[in-house]
Amino acid sequence: MAADKLEIFSWWTSGGESAALQALIDGFKEHYPSTEITNAAVAGGGGTNALPVLQARLAGGTPPDTWQGNSGTAFFNSYADPGYIDDVTDLYKSEGWEKTMSPGVLDLVRKNGKYYAVMVGAHRCNEVWFNKPLLAKNGVEIGDSLSFDQFFAAAEKLKAAGVNALAVGDNGIWANMRMLENTFNGVLGYDQTVQLWDGKLAFNSPQMKEAYKTHLRMLDYQNPDHSALSWDQAVKKVIEGSSAFTMMGDWSYGEFAKAGAKDGVDFGWVSHPGTEDIFIIVTDGFPIAKDAPNPESARNWLKVMGDPKVQLAFSLKKGSVATRLDVDKSTLPAYLQWSFEKFAKNKFTGSSVNGEQVPSSFNQSSFDALTTFVVDKNIDAFADNMQAAFDAIPKT
Ligand code: BGC
Repeated sequence: MAADKLEIFSWWTSGGESAALQALIDGFKEHYPSTEITNAAVAGGGGTNALPVLQARLAGGTPPDTWQGNSGTAFFNSYADPGYIDDVTDLYKSEGWEKTMSPGVLDLVRKNGKYYAVMVGAHRCNEVWFNKPLLAKNGVEIGDSLSFDQFFAAAEKLKAAGVNALAVGDNGIWANMRMLENTFNGVLGYDQTVQLWDGKLAFNSPQMKEAYKTHLRMLDYQNPDHSALSWDQAVKKVIEGSSAFTMMGDWSYGEFAKAGAKDGVDFGWVSHPGTEDIFIIVTDGFPIAKDAPNPESARNWLKVMGDPKVQLAFSLKKGSVATRLDVDKSTLPAYLQWSFEKFAKNKFTGSSVNGEQVPSSFNQSSFDALTTFVVDKNIDAFADNMQAAFDAIPKT
């Protein structure tokens, strides 16, 4: 059968994201030049708009051949458990990926000994990005780490100078939750974060309330137009120098790179306060739809996703690290050198915002709770709502 068509679904539409998707398509075209690709991307960071569209297509029996998916709990429960995707374990065997890919990533995409997707990159979600010249102009220096106190001292200084300290783009509430999750990881530290997700530490515990308080305090420094902006528009404010910091996953790197900003010169980065040793992980990869219209093309696509050269090309545009451990790191720019090292040394914890850690039902209820919280600022009520969202997760 001729492998001549392929529909790829994703939410990669920001400047950096679409450049990264193009790198994958270019890599694929080198091997399969005659396959006609349909790029079915649906705009909206974190998949806010794309995910419901995808679910409707799957339920309606008109799936794309393959799609961008984050691994972990929500991935399995949205796609593998209902039988929407193929088991691709045979590809792992024939391509030898169990030996060449990061074991931590393999764990996130394997269920009951079977693999359901190929992960092309792994994002670290817990970064603070900043405009270096703007900070220098205002006498703010950032070292190898940033504590909450140091952040607040810098933010006060910037505020006094009339500079917006923190760019937020939360027209999708997930972006606000991204910051909050980074903050509670930082307040709790790795061990207590594990306890939280194990249900041994409550979402309404004093430690978590401390994190919610810190979150509100940070939001005091955000840009007034935050709720009208997307995550990448917030990054743009930092690139342009109208805001000093933004707190977002390393897909932000793709925006800096796309704008031609130079690592360590025009912009800098540091771990979110308290999370130097933590890698809050979100992986990006691709499964094959059970009734894919073009299954052979989809298999070819997955094979290319496991190619170290393609992974490297993607990494440079996207800001994530390669999932293969044998990529050539010699020519990586400074940020990626730093993050590949973090990937090797940090402890992984799955992100809840993107569903690595929890099913999508938790996301929905926690996002609703946060939407209320950022307006009413009621810490106790929010803490209880978060705990209720966690308690409502079906126990398996
Ligand atoms: C995805 C990234 C994407 C980000 C913002 C995350 O869920 O894993 O690939 O860049 O959302 O859209």
